[in-house]
Amino acid sequence: MNRIELKGTEIFKGEFSPPPDKSISHRAVILSSLAKGKSTIRNLLRAKDTESTLNAFRSVGIQIEDRGDKVIIWGKGLHGLSEPSDVIDCGNSGTTIRLVSGVLSGNPFFSVLTGDGSLRSRPMARVIKPLTLMGAQISARADNRYPPLAIRGRGLNPVTYEMPVASAQVKSSLLLAGLYSSGETRISEPVKSRDHTERMLPAFGGDLKVAGLEVIVRGGSDLRPVEMEVPGDFSSAAFFIVASLIIPDSEITAKNVGINPTRTGLLEVLRKMGAGIEIANVREVSGEPVADIHCRGGAPLRSIEIAGDIIPSLIDEFPVLCVAAASAEGTTVIRGAEELRVKESDRIKAMASELVKMGVEIEEYPDGLSIRGNRRLRGAEVESHGDHRIAMSMAVAALAADGKTIVNGASAVDISFPGFFDIVKRFTS
Ligand code: S3P
Repeated sequence: MNRIELKGTEIFKGEFSPPPDKSISHRAVILSSLAKGKSTIRNLLRAKDTESTLNAFRSVGIQIEDRGDKVIIWGKGLHGLSEPSDVIDCGNSGTTIRLVSGVLSGNPFFSVLTGDGSLRSRPMARVIKPLTLMGAQISARADNRYPPLAIRGRGLNPVTYEMPVASAQVKSSLLLAGLYSSGETRISEPVKSRDHTERMLPAFGGDLKVAGLEVIVRGGSDLRPVEMEVPGDFSSAAFFIVASLIIPDSEITAKNVGINPTRTGLLEVLRKMGAGIEIANVREVSGEPVADIHCRGGAPLRSIEIAGDIIPSLIDEFPVLCVAAASAEGTTVIRGAEELRVKESDRIKAMASELVKMGVEIEEYPDGLSIRGNRRLRGAEVESHGDHRIAMSMAVAALAADGKTIVNGASAVDISFPGFFDIVKRFTS
């Protein structure tokens, strides 16, 4: 499965439920582990990244039972974790290492967090610096910048911290650390990033307030267990949404998809590009807005310029947006998206180098790229760069291309979307 062959298709039709939301699943596992008692999570994502978070909490003494349709977590309270007897392997998961480092900073034992080659090259100073301001003792490789992280946890002080870059991982790490300090921790960010932690923590009885771009958490009190359900992942649905818009005879419905506005910038951009997208059956599931999304292909897409405050709300969708841009009329310009260079791969470089192989003209900037669209993509041999979202984006490009495409490193999809290629097969046959 690590090398997959796909043919261009004229038909792309069907209905599906995307896998459970990855960001919400990580947070559900973390907060359930820190609550006192039995939490029940329905529709938890079972994929490599969430396995990393489940394993991290198992290794600090939390009992977790997978019962198929639900996962039971026996939380031991904020101060019930125990010292792990080995290094904690966070695999490919940036969310695991950054959020868990916030938790472990406040726990009075020694722990080491590491991960795969990609994770070990991702910047950690963005969490280490503010956690250190709270009193945490963390050292890391290369002058405290890269994993492994060695943490000697202890009681923390509350802080007021202005994040230089919008990041839900950093924000959430600091909010979790704030639970271990007595007093108010105030975190503000330049633009609002995804707010799943802010929505979920109050359901566990956490004392949290949001005031514009500032989030205030008061630590010290116990969390209570919950019963909750995880909605479908908009970021996973995004691959099928874009595929349906660029394949002529297509019509898809993605059911039970989270439409939290801090996540759905792609819908706004695609609508501006001329896409017809319908949202139906809007409801709330465990404090998150959820809906069914219906898209139909055929309408030509127009190029667009993207920069500024919208970027955090579509940060994970840029790779597949590049594929939409390659099929649109005109030149799409993306600027101010330098964060893409420090994701699971350098996603600017990865998309530029792979789409060029399919005949697309691209110019790369330090903080984005421009993509000359309206080209019929041609089949090629392309690489995933070991990045799940690059693998799925290139698969979407392959479906809209002439001839045959080989995607090498396709098993990266298991990080967030096991079963991705089964749905592709169903929709194209
Ligand atoms: C995530 C936040 C985002 C996103 C990542 C998941 C999260 O990262 O890219 O895939 O669950 O908090 P940043 O917060 O670093 O932008």
